[in-house]
Formats: sequence, C-alpha cells, structure tokens
Amino acid sequence: MATTPVSLILLSLFFSLSLHAQAQAPKAPAPAPSGPVNLTAILEKGGQFGTLIQLLNKTQTFNQIENQLNSSSEGMTIFAPTDNAFSNLKSGSLNGLTQQEQVQLLQYHMLSKFYTVNNLLLVSNPVPTQASGKDGVWGLNFTGQSNQLNVSSGMVEVQVNNALRKEFPLAVYPVDKVLLPEELFGVKPPTASPPAPATKETSSGKSSPKEAAAEPSSGKNSAGGRKVALGLVVGLGLVCMGILS
Ligand SMILES: *[C@@H]1O[C@H](CO)[C@@H](O)[C@H](O)[C@H]1NC(C)=O
Ligand SMILES: *[C@@H]1O[C@H](CO)[C@@H](O)[C@H](O)[C@H]1NC(C)=O
Ligand SMILES: *[C@@H]1O[C@H](CO)[C@@H](O)[C@H](O)[C@H]1NC(C)=O
Ligand SMILES: *[C@@H]1O[C@H](CO)[C@@H](O)[C@H](O)[C@H]1NC(C)=O
Ligand SMILES: *[C@@H]1O[C@H](CO)[C@@H](O)[C@H](O)[C@H]1NC(C)=O
Repeated sequence: MATTPVSLILLSLFFSLSLHAQAQAPKAPAPAPSGPVNLTAILEKGGQFGTLIQLLNKTQTFNQIENQLNSSSEGMTIFAPTDNAFSNLKSGSLNGLTQQEQVQLLQYHMLSKFYTVNNLLLVSNPVPTQASGKDGVWGLNFTGQSNQLNVSSGMVEVQVNNALRKEFPLAVYPVDKVLLPEELFGVKPPTASPPAPATKETSSGKSSPKEAAAEPSSGKNSAGGRKVALGLVVGLGLVCMGILS
C-alpha cells in the first residue's frame, strides 16, 4: 500500500514538469521584435527635454515620427535640444514662428536615416534634413575627429552629445543649442508689401439690429419658463393625488 503515495508524487511531479515546459515553450523561439519605439518615453527618461516634448506634441510631429519609424527601412536620427537650449534662445524666437515654421524647425533637427557618431564623422556635407523640400535643401554640416562631433547649421555650431538612444531604427542625440536654420532665422530681405490696413466698418452699424432682434425672444423665454414652472406644480399635484388615492 506504500506504493500509491509514491506513484502519486511521481505523477504530480511529471505533471508539474510538463506544465513548466509548456509555460516555457512560447518564450523559446528567437528574441521578439522590441515593439514600436516610444520617443516620448526616451525623451522623458532623458529628463531635460520638456520644451521639446511640448513642441513635438503641439505640432503633432510625434505622430509623424512614429509613422515614419514604422514605415521606413532607413530609420531616423534626431538631435534633441535641451530645455537650456530653448531657454537660451532670444525671447520670442519660438513664438515669432508660425505653426508651419515650428514644424520646419523641428524637422530641421531630424535626418531620414539612422546614423551612428562614426557614420556622421564620415558623412558628406551638407546632410539634407527633413525640413528640406520645395524651399530647397535645409542642410546640416558635421565636423570633428575621433569622438568629438560637431553639428552646424551655418548660424549655430554645437557639440553632439552622447546618445540618449543609439539602436536602429532611431538615434537620439542631445544638443545644448537649438539648431537655427538660416532659412528661418537668417537675415531676410525686407518685405515690400505692408500688412493690409484693418477695416473698421463692422463695429458700429451692424450690432444694434441684432440686439433689437434678441429682445422679443428673451421675453418669450421667460414666459416659457413660467409655463414650465406651472406645469411642474400641476404635475406634482397630480402625483400627490395619485399617492393619496
Ligand atoms: C509612450 O511613453 C509615454 C511616457 O512614458 C506614455 O505616456 C505613452 O503611453 C507611451 N506610448 C505608447 C504608445 O506606448
Ligand atoms: C499632448 O497634448 C495633449 C493635449 O493637446 C495632452 O493631453 C497630452 O498630455 C500631451 N502629451 C505630452 C506628452 O505632453
Ligand atoms: C505600425 O505598423 C503596423 C503594421 O505594419 C501597424 O499595425 C501599426 O498600427 C503601425 N503603428 C503606427 C504607430 O503607425
Ligand atoms: C556646410 O559647409 C559648406 C562647405 O564648407 C558651406 O558652403 C555651407 O554653407 C555649410 N552649410 C551649413 C548648413 O553649415
Ligand atoms: C565644436 O563646436 C564648439 C562650439 O560649440 C567649438 O568650441 C569647438 O571647437 C568645435 N569642435 C570642433 C572639433 O570643431
């Protein structure tokens, strides 16, 4: 009779082993793809990119980057100006831009290809950024030796700092200055046409008829209000009578 417990133990051992093996099985085949790259998380972890995050969010550039990372086989490189870089800008530089120009400024910090530092040391200048288009090539120049890499917009030159992330498909390098493109911040030829003078007709003549039209309806409303109140009282009375009867 001593054999039964032993065989039970063996049996349960066998089951627990096979369950274990089943649980392990799905993990075994090859490392799964690491899922979509989360640029927000990368920048938040960096801890000094609040302004950039806000700007990318406000201009919906995050979505564009995610779509591009998802569909491109070349990957992407992003230069991420720190909060300091933004606060060192001349006041109004950012707010002086239209939404479209803010997008262009952000796109000027992005390359449509994944580059390591060594790639960038060997690249042929200027490298077209994502702001390039109808308005021409908005390029960046890269210079340096060994581990010291500089990036230049023509107006601003700054060292490229150690990557926040450097795995394909996305490289993110912090920079301590905003890369100002000459196309947006360079000396512009003075514009010939002054802004059209504002018209003043609208303010005086048209408002009074509207006000007059508004009067009768407000009178109706208060009458309607009284009717509703009366209806409520009658309704309540009827309910009370219903309860009492
Ligand atoms: C990306 O990371 C941010 C911050 O950590 C998080 O709020 C957001 O939900 C993440 N997005 C995706 C698609 O996982
Ligand atoms: C992006 O903006 C929306 C509102 O426009 C806000 O709800 C959201 O929290 C913002 N996300 C980040 C990461 O700032
Ligand atoms: C990325 O592509 C996959 C399939 O190709 C799709 O299911 C997913 O929704 C895409 N994600 C984004 C953020 O576009
Ligand atoms: C890059 O370098 C070339 C050659 O030195 C120069 O002509 C061009 O203006 C520079 N462009 C930028 C964006 O710095
Ligand atoms: C990189 O740029 C800085 C200015 O931001 C300059 O002082 C330094 O000499 C440059 N280095 C190289 C290798 O060009």
